[in-house]
Amino acid sequence: CGIVGYVGSSTACGKPLEVCLQGLKRLEYRGYDSAGVALAAPGMDHVAVRKKAGRLANLEADLAKHALPEATVGIGHTRWATNGAPSDNNAHPHLSADGNIAIIHNGIIENANVLKGQLQTEGYSFASSTDSEVAAKLLGKMAEQVIAETGKPDLFEALRRVARQLTGAFTILAVDCRQPDVVVGARHDSPLVVGLGEGENFLGSDVAAFVAYTKEAMELGQDEAVCITADSVTVTDFEGNEVTEPKRFTVDWDASAAEKGGWPSFMDKEIHEDPAAVADTLLGRFDEKGDIVLDEVRIEPDAFRSVDKIIVVACGTASYAGLVAKYAIEHWVRIPVEVELAHEFRYRDPILTPRTLVVAISQSGETMDTLMALRHAREQGSRVLAICNTQGATIPRESDAVLYTHAGPEIAVASTKAFVAQVTAAYLLGLYLAQVKGTMFRDEIHQVLDNLKAMPDKIQWVLDTQRESIERAAKRMLNAHSFLFLGRHVGYPVAMEGALKLKEIAYTFTEGFAAGELKHGPIALVDEGEPVVVIVPSARGRDTLHNKVISGIEEVKARGAYTIAVAEEGDPDAERYADIVFWRPACPTLLSPLVDVVPLQLFAMDMANLKGYDVDKPRNLAKSVTVE
Ligand code: G6P
Repeated sequence: CGIVGYVGSSTACGKPLEVCLQGLKRLEYRGYDSAGVALAAPGMDHVAVRKKAGRLANLEADLAKHALPEATVGIGHTRWATNGAPSDNNAHPHLSADGNIAIIHNGIIENANVLKGQLQTEGYSFASSTDSEVAAKLLGKMAEQVIAETGKPDLFEALRRVARQLTGAFTILAVDCRQPDVVVGARHDSPLVVGLGEGENFLGSDVAAFVAYTKEAMELGQDEAVCITADSVTVTDFEGNEVTEPKRFTVDWDASAAEKGGWPSFMDKEIHEDPAAVADTLLGRFDEKGDIVLDEVRIEPDAFRSVDKIIVVACGTASYAGLVAKYAIEHWVRIPVEVELAHEFRYRDPILTPRTLVVAISQSGETMDTLMALRHAREQGSRVLAICNTQGATIPRESDAVLYTHAGPEIAVASTKAFVAQVTAAYLLGLYLAQVKGTMFRDEIHQVLDNLKAMPDKIQWVLDTQRESIERAAKRMLNAHSFLFLGRHVGYPVAMEGALKLKEIAYTFTEGFAAGELKHGPIALVDEGEPVVVIVPSARGRDTLHNKVISGIEEVKARGAYTIAVAEEGDPDAERYADIVFWRPACPTLLSPLVDVVPLQLFAMDMANLKGYDVDKPRNLAKSVTVE
């Protein structure tokens, strides 16, 4: 879910609503099952709330018909339904029993049923089936308790009392019409950052919520609560002890980076930012001698030298970036690299030692499964390095070290430019390890780096020259019911990622697998006309890898498959055996995922567009999954 909060001057005006709607627009990628806002101003006898099932546009249309009153504070929510179906009733904000207080919530409150039972016996009734409403009713009750004890409302204290009673994961923001100059928030295992303005302050699930208004931000730690007024920010733990030095940071991208800027979709724009994502991730990571410097990573070279095993933990696209890293790092550094889906890693009994480096890859830095895996690894005494695209996010904050990808904000739910940036960062990490451990000669490392620096131009070549043939292929394949994607070696994760893109946005049943497995099962699926997409390794020297993959194409063709190949420019075998070829420029095999994935991103987007789907907001998905 996406969360935004705003407090401005003491004169009621339209700005709280404007900031909430702006923020929600930018956070909609976090969920789009429903949206809602709550506003408060001096003199109101209850908070003003409006909420609607469906996309933010529904809420905006409703607000255009029936305006809300001007306000001094506001909170807004865009929902990815976890608990309770997407409906007007289940949409946030939820209200206290007396209607004075409204809250919004992200996460899952695990003891909601127990709390609800207690509240029901006390006479509280519920309008929705969400866990969040339980927090709203409880907050109302705590607010009354505080008033009874102290004689005045104190929403901050009431929220802390609620936070102490909840289990599970939550970010909660609340406003109270009796205190229309504060917005309060609390977080446990769920994201929340503060935006620092002049005479106004903000809260958001991430900085995108307020970047149009301020770039100055503040991180909030685990189990912290915050109270913002127009000119103050107070952070405490759940007991009320003040946190004296919350960490501040400046957002390093402009609001315009999170806008479509004339592109038909964010996905289209972001695929075209693939070259810049790679180039920017490499930027500033070398000294004048051309050696890699990762000072920002905060792990001493000696500690890196002692690493004898790497485990990559990640989900979705990020896990395929990790799989590419395995091939490269094992080859360069000669230490074992395991890649595991974070949610699987967490609940088995992984073998970790202080010499194991756990690499958590996450675009958002908020994926709960990945966060839980990294906490588990640290509890076992291993170091964790995050590869992350989002400053101030929880995963980098809780890791021992962070290597930021500089892809800029990624808005489309299906990840594209973040993938190539993650792969680039993983290469940098591998080459850095090779440098400190001495597993490669210096000039060998420099040679790979030169090749890596040439990759943005090669990606650009694909974008510039292959657009038409990809679109033609998508038109040709529009009615296909299923696809098979296959690749070997580093082509294997690319096949998995290409398949994932097609599932995510074109809703086509797609299986990605290792080309060598073909004959061990998947070939049974091949029938007349079945589309098979094959990632063909470099033809140079016609090495065994290339020949094996070409044999795979022959085998499926012999059974009637319609084949699409991603192959190196001029590969005569790809030309001969594939029905359609997406060409890419020559490059070293280990670096080829950076170019091979690009036509597959475009292909999935074209398929989804041709089917009339919203490529940026695919059904049922959210970009950042902050629940386990
Ligand atoms: C969600 C998104 C995927 C993404 C995955 C990991 O499932 O829909 O596109 O790859 O999360 O996200 P992260 O932010 O951790 O990279």
